[in-house]
Amino acid sequence: MKIFRGTKYAIVPAFAALVIFAIAGARNVRAGQDEKNSGTPAGNATRGKQIFYDHGCYECHGREGQGSIVTGPRLGPDPIPYESFTSYVRKPTGEMPPYTTKVVPDQDLADIYAYLASRPHPPATKTSAAK
Ligand code: HEC
Repeated sequence: MKIFRGTKYAIVPAFAALVIFAIAGARNVRAGQDEKNSGTPAGNATRGKQIFYDHGCYECHGREGQGSIVTGPRLGPDPIPYESFTSYVRKPTGEMPPYTTKVVPDQDLADIYAYLASRPHPPATKTSAAK
């Protein structure tokens, strides 16, 4: 029984870390909209949604950026860091087609990013809570 003692208490800091990350994430989104965050430019989520549809991102990543096992991974609501996001869209290394600044200007990409970041989190399920 002694062996299992440690694991029980390890859950508490892990959960605390999760909460901290969640708060930090929510702050980043707000800061981005306020143009206070240096790394992520302000984006217009409503416009971003339209661009996400117009450029067909949704065809592979789903209308909510939720992804699909077959066509493309989930992109939101917690998108990868903005820099990684843009560099991947410009120069994908896998199956995805590249999008140059001529096709999707930087501001459009910032708007798409804002849209993906603004997607609601799916409700927790019993399975995901147990993880
Ligand atoms: C033809 C299907 C397709 C389209 C259209 C497409 N993607 Fe992708 N995307 C993928 C696939 C597949 C991947 C997984 C990596 C790979 O194979 O390139 C991916 C990966 C990504 C990633 C990296 C995700 C990660 O977690 O590393 C980003 C960001 C991304 N796509 C954004 C976009 C945006 C923005 C658009 C529209 C401008 C778009 N994609 C259009 C298929 C697509």
